[in-house]
Amino acid sequence: MKLLLLGAGGREHALAWKICKSSQLEKLYVSPGNAGTSEIAENIAMDINDFDAVGNFCVQKKIDVLVVGPEQPLVNGIHDYFENNPRLKNVTVIGPKKEGAILEGSKDFAKKFMKKHRIPTAKSKSFNKQQVIEALEYLEQKEGPYVLKADGLAAGKGVVIESDLNKAKKAVKILLEGQFGKSSETVVIEDFLVGVEVSMFIITDGVNYKLLPTAKDYKRVGEGDTGLNTGGMGAVSPVPFANREFIDKVENQIIIPTVKGLRKEGIDYSGFIFFGLISVKGDPYVIEYNCRLGDPETEVIMPRLKSDILELFDGIATNTLSERDVEIDLRTASTVMLVSGGYPEKYEKYKEINIGDLDEKSVAFHAGTIIKNNKIVSNGGRVMAVTSYGKNIETSLKVCYANVEKITFEKKQFRKDIGKDLITKK
Ligand code: AMP
Ligand code: GLY
Repeated sequence: MKLLLLGAGGREHALAWKICKSSQLEKLYVSPGNAGTSEIAENIAMDINDFDAVGNFCVQKKIDVLVVGPEQPLVNGIHDYFENNPRLKNVTVIGPKKEGAILEGSKDFAKKFMKKHRIPTAKSKSFNKQQVIEALEYLEQKEGPYVLKADGLAAGKGVVIESDLNKAKKAVKILLEGQFGKSSETVVIEDFLVGVEVSMFIITDGVNYKLLPTAKDYKRVGEGDTGLNTGGMGAVSPVPFANREFIDKVENQIIIPTVKGLRKEGIDYSGFIFFGLISVKGDPYVIEYNCRLGDPETEVIMPRLKSDILELFDGIATNTLSERDVEIDLRTASTVMLVSGGYPEKYEKYKEINIGDLDEKSVAFHAGTIIKNNKIVSNGGRVMAVTSYGKNIETSLKVCYANVEKITFEKKQFRKDIGKDLITKK
């Protein structure tokens, strides 16, 4: 199989690393990729939202499978573009069409979908920009903390959680006045749920699905979950409290109704679904859907997937996913993200990165890196994720942090408490 993988982060390096382990792989291209993907595949400089460019490349290189890492091209309709173009009909796209990507692209749609299909989620109401007064009145009737969500994509910045009523009112006004342009012309206000978060992932051909490992990510920049939100500072898989009983509940109450619900709506979904969940006293609720894998969750999920991922992609291409096996490594995988000093605010780029000899239980997945003058340099806020295996969270993190020390660049920062909460709660 010849593949093109779109994206440039740690998620894409982890996917590329896994794809390269398949005996069925003939050639892997990554666009735009990073320094890490250039070591194992061929990077192609391309604007991944320029569908003509991506399409022409796929025709020219006779690509069989297009794997879409990030959400933006999916929400913009890259799968639809391929389906509607006779020259690209034979390319299998891993990722939903626009009508399915809307699960992530519109929180208002996702809430209505869950309500209709009786999928547990926080109670909510949506307001558009003509309904500012109604939104403020709704907040007044509620008790805090108040959860406000911009309807559309806002690069992970569209959720406001505010305890103070007046501040929440101000925030809702700013959102509805177009803080995120079209993305916040509608705002979802939902009840605050108290619980512990975990994410689950499936790959689906629209009828059948296969469960991937559970993961927990650490979104705040500071230790003890403090400071600004980031793309993710680390992750652990599996999550100990998500035991068989909990996973059964998620499958029966959330995953199966979601896959069936999509079909009932006439939405032909293929690709990954990421369920952001919260366990409230052992019962799962959906916080959000994503139409792709998570970053840095992928950096712990791919290392635990023992099965050939191209078999799963072929299962989607031929509607035979139900016949494919998903075998999971029983070890724990933990990942710690090394970030540029200052991230998620202003930071400097192009710091030279030195990667020492990592031990055999560890792998470095590049995120914001490029090659300049034959040297690997930083090129983003999240620079590199170090993933390590262990027989449990404690041992995997011990190995991970020892290897984190072997990677150096100026102003390197990382959280030292990834997974700690899961160890004490065991
Ligand atoms: P999202 O961008 O939807 O993942 O939301 C960002 C974060 O806000 C989540 O990871 C949760 O920690 C938190 N959050 C979102 N919705 C709720 C809710 N209804 N109750 C409590 N926390 C929430
Ligand atoms: N780590 C969260 C996300 O990928 O959305």
